[in-house]
Amino acid sequence: MKNKRFLLSEEDIPRQWYNIASDLPTPMQPPIGPDGKPITPDMLAPVFPMNLIEQEMSRERWIAIPEEIIDMLYMWRPAPLVRADRLEKYLKTPARIYYKDESVSPAGSHKPNTAVAQAWYNKQFGIKRLTTETGAGQWGCALAFACSLLGLECKVFMVRISFDQKPFRKTMMQVWGANCTASPSNETNAGRAILKKMPDTPGSLGIAISEAVEAAVTDKTGKTRYALGSVLNHVLLHQTIIGLEAKKQLKMAGEKRPDVVIGCAGGGSNFAGLAFPFVNDKINGEKIEIIPIESSTCPKMTKGPFTYDFGDTAQMTPLLPMYTLGHSFIPPPIHAGGLRYHGMAPLVSQCIVEGLITPRAYDQLKCYESAVTWARTEGTIPAPETSHAIACVIDEAKKAREEGKEKVILFSYSGHGLLDLAGYEKYLGGKLEECSLPDSELCESLKSIKDLPKAKTQKTGKW
Ligand SMILES: Cc1ncc(COP(=O)(O)O)c(C=O)c1O
Repeated sequence: MKNKRFLLSEEDIPRQWYNIASDLPTPMQPPIGPDGKPITPDMLAPVFPMNLIEQEMSRERWIAIPEEIIDMLYMWRPAPLVRADRLEKYLKTPARIYYKDESVSPAGSHKPNTAVAQAWYNKQFGIKRLTTETGAGQWGCALAFACSLLGLECKVFMVRISFDQKPFRKTMMQVWGANCTASPSNETNAGRAILKKMPDTPGSLGIAISEAVEAAVTDKTGKTRYALGSVLNHVLLHQTIIGLEAKKQLKMAGEKRPDVVIGCAGGGSNFAGLAFPFVNDKINGEKIEIIPIESSTCPKMTKGPFTYDFGDTAQMTPLLPMYTLGHSFIPPPIHAGGLRYHGMAPLVSQCIVEGLITPRAYDQLKCYESAVTWARTEGTIPAPETSHAIACVIDEAKKAREEGKEKVILFSYSGHGLLDLAGYEKYLGGKLEECSLPDSELCESLKSIKDLPKAKTQKTGKW
């Protein structure tokens, strides 16, 4: 055993983000309107600032990180790479397990990596106020924090069930000066329409996105834009700093490459952030197993079709080519709020289509069990989303033990769970149940997309 923690110095922080869109074997299909025609940059202009729209559409492999953004990232980056040797010992595995610790940011997760970048680009463009949605509350906190650094106003629509489960996330947002409302709310047409139909709905990220987009585009000052915490190309781009740092740190640890790379995936951003630099190695011939983990209650990658769908419930966003359960899908109120999104990022979806990554779904009970094992070996209490990655890490480490193979497993420790203790309390009290999506519900939900344009590689007749 050499070291436990592998720390880069400030001058080693990556100076460019990695854009996988330039390297995918098949070019990405564009976002389109309901008429099937590609979306043009000016159509997105009421929603996002033009500098981020350009990034969204860019095919440049490397994009320079502005110095002022690096300066904000220094508040918690470079983030540690840590060897989970106590878990290894507990599992009696020959595998070497490393995790990239993104829980060290002010908001407690990877989300500030893109929040500070998005807030900065908006400010450069003259924007004064940002609106957004939040599922777990991590993204809302991250944007609230970033807006406070840059002097922007911030309005957050927080999915109802998380709002009720995690009241202190709202308080954190307020401490950073943001305004947080439970979604669906009475503040938007989209929210009012849903509340009329389903007054007791737990809400969903799809609904909260509709509200936040509406709040941005209907603002008469023209100085409000919308910011998204996952899914879009530019968000995933900003997160690649995770994998770029991890590559350097694995070298410090004396490892040539990981054999397995794992991350939980809600919209895909922490997974992609860690994995995309390694997907690039895989495209160039390296043998690496790369696994995004979703919740079995929201299994878009393992059960949904790859097709065009809206990013939100009220159909305000462009149609994106992605794995989806249908934009009207409302997942059960599990505690991993950040995994309750109906679709998967187009870039991650394309990697699945290309066979570069292989998704798996895990049930919440197994994930809490794994999280408790983690806490009792490595010490920290993971976010419920992160526990999905840990469940897979434990499976892979056991597999290495059975095969007698010295594998290197790398995963994204996307956030801490110190504000998610209500879920742990239920688990420890035996009040959580196994939960997966019944086929009948999936079929019902997919009806909402059956008349939408199809993405090219979709196998017709699959569902
Ligand atoms: C700690 C944590 N991990 C993972 C996720 C999932 O999001 P993404 O797939 O964009 O990384 C979230 C989302 O809120 C989160 O809070």
